[in-house]
Amino acid sequence: MDKILILDFGSQTTQLIGRRVRDLGVYTEIIPGDATLDAGVISHEVKGIILSGSPESVYDTGAAPDKKVYDCGLPLLGICYGLQRMTYDLGGKVEPLPKMEYGRIEVKIQKNEGSDKIQKFLNGFRDSFTAWMSHGDTLTQLAPGFKQYGTSGTGYPAVAAHEQKPWFGLQFHPEVTHCEGGDEILGAFVFGVCGCTAGWSMEHYIEELNQSLKKRAGENPVLLLISGGVDSTVAGAALLKTLKTEQVHLMYMDTGFMRKNETAAVRANLEKLGAKNLHIIMCEDEFLSALKGKGEPEEKRRIIGDLFITIQEREVARLGLPENYFLAQGTLYTDLIESGKGIGKKAHVIKSHHNVASPLVDAKRKAGKIIEPLDRLYKDEVRKLGRFLGVDEEIVGRHPFPGPGLAVRIIGEVTKEKCDVLREADAIFIEELKKRRGSSGKSLYDEIWQAFSVLLPIRSVGVAGDVRKYGWVLALRAITSTDGMTADVYPFETRDLLEISTRITNSVKDIGRVTYDISSKPPATIEWE
Ligand code: XMP
Repeated sequence: MDKILILDFGSQTTQLIGRRVRDLGVYTEIIPGDATLDAGVISHEVKGIILSGSPESVYDTGAAPDKKVYDCGLPLLGICYGLQRMTYDLGGKVEPLPKMEYGRIEVKIQKNEGSDKIQKFLNGFRDSFTAWMSHGDTLTQLAPGFKQYGTSGTGYPAVAAHEQKPWFGLQFHPEVTHCEGGDEILGAFVFGVCGCTAGWSMEHYIEELNQSLKKRAGENPVLLLISGGVDSTVAGAALLKTLKTEQVHLMYMDTGFMRKNETAAVRANLEKLGAKNLHIIMCEDEFLSALKGKGEPEEKRRIIGDLFITIQEREVARLGLPENYFLAQGTLYTDLIESGKGIGKKAHVIKSHHNVASPLVDAKRKAGKIIEPLDRLYKDEVRKLGRFLGVDEEIVGRHPFPGPGLAVRIIGEVTKEKCDVLREADAIFIEELKKRRGSSGKSLYDEIWQAFSVLLPIRSVGVAGDVRKYGWVLALRAITSTDGMTADVYPFETRDLLEISTRITNSVKDIGRVTYDISSKPPATIEWE
């Protein structure tokens, strides 16, 4: 399968380059900008290399690529720092701008001359368009052999190409949605210049997975711990599709902190997908008694994490799988990047300080018995794969949910009664969001990145009929975000909030008052605990 390699020099948008090219149907891999480019890295599948942007400067601390990048004969596309890097390395000049070029900037293209490859590249450009830029340095002299094919509204080089070699550079970011026609520009490089065939699809992914899993796991049992979230459920679906169903063991723990009907939905979905060995562990009582009298958020999280591991080890031992079983995990491509396992070590760290390392996972990793069926996929590709494999939309399109579940959405001590009240109120909130349309025409649920309810340890006075009521206060949270690192408050129409509040207080008798959390992240976090 054709592949585009991306050298990551630390830009915030490197991941986006990978995503955009994959959306065009071509597989991408991100490696550190200064990685050694041996034959293993530049395999016969690699058809072109993109050099990413960087927050650094070429004449300062910015990393340099392995010089082989200029000898390998493959087409190169430098984006922002990538172009400056090529210019600097190949004998041109890069200098600071008097004023940074930032945001939307007009670019004009000079289409006339140039080799056949240059024409193929320029075919992806409109004569003039709004690009998106963010750079403090500029090219003050192109490297020998390069010619300028586009100029920014402020008069600086915006597009350059080598007259003989298949080397191209953009001073702007085609991967950013604010860039008009960015996909066509990337497409012109990937298809026109590199000659890639679009072979990256979910069918293809499953086919490859099928072969690699059969080779690795053979007939051995594979155990996957399912949380009910998108990633682990789709990982389960992928295993069931590619291995023998008898071989696949799925274990799910109901801690008592799940959302309404969550366990039933997970069970129904996995059974529909063919699961035969589904082990659902009901451990609500154990979790509730461990948390009795505990109100401090970090202590609650620690207790939950520890108990999770204890029960997991106990239940796995109880299954009595043979020593050589494999442990599967729903790790994504971005998780690998974040944990710095050799790919894109310069990429910006996104999350996840949250999930506890488990001795079971560590031991299996050491023994080389971990299977990560989603480890080449981005989150939206996991959703695509889930839909392809027939996972219900209810699970595939679901908002993120924290590992400790409702326990961190009940402020202070957690009790069964409070879990039930929160579960009920939250189910109404989510149902209303799915029912209502937003300005984009999508449901409010789909416009919002994450929405949930929080039960506060406060009772407040109210009336129900003629009777004085002393009910709990519920906070609603709804945010927009791209990665959970920062978040904005979702700007509801007032009417939606009023109607949702009324429905909750009318239906859940223990809730006396509803508030809306209007804090962005930062300074607040998304979850309350
Ligand atoms: P915060 O509250 O840190 O949340 O702003 C960022 C995102 O992470 C989710 N979250 C968790 N996810 N285990 C998880 O798998 C956890 O312990 C955890 N805590 C928070 C949160 O819901 C939000 O999407």
